[in-house]
Amino acid sequence: PANSDELIQRIKERLQQHGAALVAHYYTAPEIQALAEATGGMVADSLEMARFGRDHSAQTLIVAGVKFMGETAKILSPEKRVFMPTLEATCSLDLGCPADEFSAFCDQHPDRTVVVYANTSAAVKARADWVVTSAIALDVVDYLDSQGEKILWAPDKYLGSYVQKQTGADVLLWDGSCIVHEEFKARGILDLKKVHPDAAVLVHPESPESVVELADAVGSTSQLIAATQRLPNKEFIVATDQGIFYKMQQASPDKVLHIAPTGGNGATCRSCANCPWMAMNELENLAQLLDNLEAYSATCEIHVELGLAEQAMKPLQRMLDFSA
Ligand code: 13P
Ligand code: SF4
Repeated sequence: PANSDELIQRIKERLQQHGAALVAHYYTAPEIQALAEATGGMVADSLEMARFGRDHSAQTLIVAGVKFMGETAKILSPEKRVFMPTLEATCSLDLGCPADEFSAFCDQHPDRTVVVYANTSAAVKARADWVVTSAIALDVVDYLDSQGEKILWAPDKYLGSYVQKQTGADVLLWDGSCIVHEEFKARGILDLKKVHPDAAVLVHPESPESVVELADAVGSTSQLIAATQRLPNKEFIVATDQGIFYKMQQASPDKVLHIAPTGGNGATCRSCANCPWMAMNELENLAQLLDNLEAYSATCEIHVELGLAEQAMKPLQRMLDFSA
């Protein structure tokens, strides 16, 4: 088998041959993020990934992340070809919100404005009035509340209740959660704070309420990275996927980062705080895909049915216009 250096070289050459741009989420493995940076692509949160895909001149996009990110890129740029190292990289929020059940739920509440998180299928987005990512969820719901609108929110119940509390809006929640963030434990963070009393706590809002309550900063991945630069603390306890440490450490090289515990007693298992679907983006499958895009079209290329894409485009466009 090829070693990492060979794979990295091969990926760089192939990206150039195909005129393809690689965009990676902060949760992917450090070597994937480094490749996106080294090849003129981008490492980003899910909102910035959407903008990157739409604005980049490359006609072939390689999205290293999870499936909803690839679908969003395709919906926003139907004329571009969008590939992922594997289409099996899904998300528990997406899995926990089947389009038919969700649509029936919306039908039961016709008086509510439907706001869905970006971590959903194209079919769920197609049923929504608004799509949001964690970076702008508060601002959008605050705006809708100011217009007197009642919200139906899906799928993440923790992010939804955080948004509800912060904005005071009338929010009806779908019962979904992220299997990674749901594991963080308030008790474990309190124990870890005893060992590192000066550490600030950074929390992604997909975490349970008891964890969010301990936070010095709550926000999207990009907002948490920015918080390490903004806050004066020298140490941080970070409640989100460990993949973020690559960019966080780059942004704040002089700061010490601790992963938030997923056990109740201060213990953290190494495989926790690590999204299993993000981890499916590997050098090997990325190199194989780039060796022969056509051969991997069935397993790696994003296709969104045209009618569905047109419907899903509307709430996505609303999100991008709102955040412009
Ligand atoms: P961000 O939008 O903050 O990058 O989050 C995406 C995600 O999947 C978090 O689990
Ligand atoms: Fe989905 Fe959670 Fe993985 Fe993010 S970390 S992609 S929300 S399962």
